[in-house]
Amino acid sequence: MTDSAVARKIENLRHQLRHHEHLYYVLDAPEITDAAYDALMNELKRLESAHPELVTPDSPAQRVGGKPAEGFKKARHSRSMLSLDNAYSAEELADWDRRVRELAGDLPVEYAAELKLDGLSVALRYDPAGDGGVRLTMGLTRGDGQTGEDVTSNIRTIRSVPLSISADLLQKLRLPQGQGIEVRGEVVMPEAAFLRVNEEREREGLPAFVNPRNSAAGTLRTLEPSIVANRRLVFFAYFLLVEGEYFVAGQTATLETLAALGFRVNPHRRRVTTVEEMIEFIDKAESERSSLGYEIDGVVLKVDAHATQQRLGYTGRAPRWAIAYKFTAKAGVTRVNGITVQVGRTGKLTPVAELAPVFIGGTTVSRATLHNADFLSGLGLRVGDWVKVERGGDVIPKVVEVVADAEHPRGEQPFAFPSLCPECQIPVVRAEGEVDWRCVNANCPAKLRESLLHFGRREVMNIEGLGEAVVQQLLDRGLVHSVADLYALTEEQLVGLDRFAEKSARALLDQIASSKRAGLGRVLMGLGIRFVGERTAELLAQEFGSIDALMAASAEELERVEEVGPRISQAVLEFFAQPANRALVDSLKRAGVEMTAEKRQRTAQLTGLTFVLTGTLPTLTRDEAKQKIEAAGGKTAGSVSKRTSYVVAGEEAGSKLDKARELEIPVLDEAGLLALLAGQSLPG
Ligand code: IVH
Repeated sequence: MTDSAVARKIENLRHQLRHHEHLYYVLDAPEITDAAYDALMNELKRLESAHPELVTPDSPAQRVGGKPAEGFKKARHSRSMLSLDNAYSAEELADWDRRVRELAGDLPVEYAAELKLDGLSVALRYDPAGDGGVRLTMGLTRGDGQTGEDVTSNIRTIRSVPLSISADLLQKLRLPQGQGIEVRGEVVMPEAAFLRVNEEREREGLPAFVNPRNSAAGTLRTLEPSIVANRRLVFFAYFLLVEGEYFVAGQTATLETLAALGFRVNPHRRRVTTVEEMIEFIDKAESERSSLGYEIDGVVLKVDAHATQQRLGYTGRAPRWAIAYKFTAKAGVTRVNGITVQVGRTGKLTPVAELAPVFIGGTTVSRATLHNADFLSGLGLRVGDWVKVERGGDVIPKVVEVVADAEHPRGEQPFAFPSLCPECQIPVVRAEGEVDWRCVNANCPAKLRESLLHFGRREVMNIEGLGEAVVQQLLDRGLVHSVADLYALTEEQLVGLDRFAEKSARALLDQIASSKRAGLGRVLMGLGIRFVGERTAELLAQEFGSIDALMAASAEELERVEEVGPRISQAVLEFFAQPANRALVDSLKRAGVEMTAEKRQRTAQLTGLTFVLTGTLPTLTRDEAKQKIEAAGGKTAGSVSKRTSYVVAGEEAGSKLDKARELEIPVLDEAGLLALLAGQSLPG
């Protein structure tokens, strides 16, 4: 290839990669598989390492580049990064709205309502690149608001941050060329990434991060960009300056412009005018809070028009034109009437505070978890103490601290954690290095009760009507000794239960019968294998397709499944090594519970890609190659066009290969195709 052909090919690959990064990381709507993306990336990396003179800093292959040698340098902000005043109630919002309207005079007052993302704010500077476009040159943390830390090398690894913006795009959006722009926003760590990071830290014996915000902050200040790249931080943009000045008319228009520039902009936003509308937005945000996948701690309201913002101006540390409505931590103080210990389905003992009922965030709370024996002894909790109880989102209320002052005298009765299982009176054990005490009696009635309740849950086998009262009666009457016995229940047996008539008995039996078709993933969850939650169960089911294949799998085979590491594979192996568990699987099978799943199309790697075959391949015939591509979800075409993703060329390839070169389409040989099919990255 000539130098200019290589240069064009590199540009073409970069263009494709940027497009797919934008689809994946900004719009959350990928069009190609990870393997196909990796293949393009590897091709680009290969060409860039063969032609270092063609490397540019904004290449997608250069996200993880040089690292800061010793610590981070400090740099001044172009304008100070302010914080926001807070409001905690509708009254405070109404006061603020009144002040805003007074000061605004005849200027329009409308507000942009946004989520208050619980991350850390950063300022990104893009400087003119010489070609009319701009390039990311600096990423600064907020620091003290005047000076921040230069974390550019880490910011560059965040895939939702564009490394450059083209002249065309600037022009299309009527932004001036040849001038620097600055984008500010929030870096957050998604909850899934946070959990993964902490799992890794736990494995490595490092202290866990307390929340996603701290984890994001710690990550941004890591001196190793490749670690940052793995942490999957996300940047949400909300502020834009052109040569240090506002350029668009208002906040709503700013967000639209940022999205058009390729930044990720939070979709939960609304333009509001009245305090009532603000409250509506706040209520909606609060109800969606637990399902966003990242943390928020309130809502930010901003006067929309920049002209009005400018008239309102700033107080010492914060703008008058914006306010943060903070969600109040839902907490209450109440008295501990007693401490009980619950036995879970895995035998885990959980201490629970029995409380004098207290109204917290819309519900009455009368029990709160005390987590484990260590937490309990750390608190030094006594029966009769007053405690602060918190409820976050819809999660289980928890005791956070003992409150002791003149009005809240200490309780008298210290609590001793039991050494016997409170349900079966067999000594409890604590494994080395674990925090939890467990009852290891396989026949502990509490375990059976909890297993049955778990089995019936909506996310598991979805057996409506299998609640606590019913389960307790089934156990008391000796009607079930394992989850498999549910399938042998008869109408006569059920009609004898409290508050059970023929109709309700039949309804429950119908529910039990239809749970047989719940599928392998749910059955796996229902079995209660340690560490195997909803997602892992589903992945295992799809990978192995049947319970028999899963039970026959080795650790190595198990670990081939996405997200399954040694900890999970060990738990699965241990579970199926127990004769009692194998017997349970047999009884479920005999009861007619389906134990199969649609096997995942392991090869659906090429969805969205079009291939053109040319020449003679060393081992595959043209038809075989075509079949393989199609079986993996790819398409084949007879002629090369701009829409061709790859040309697969063998011996004596002719004009199609020339055409591919002309159009800068990546060319694969047979080995390259097979690697792509196997879901590997291309050989470099
Ligand atoms: S605007 C001059 N918008 O909240 C006003 N801030 O408590 C600049 N934050 O330092 C901030 N989400 O880190 C703005 N949608 C949002 C935000 C947001 C989170 C953070 C930001 C700021 C802090 C102030």
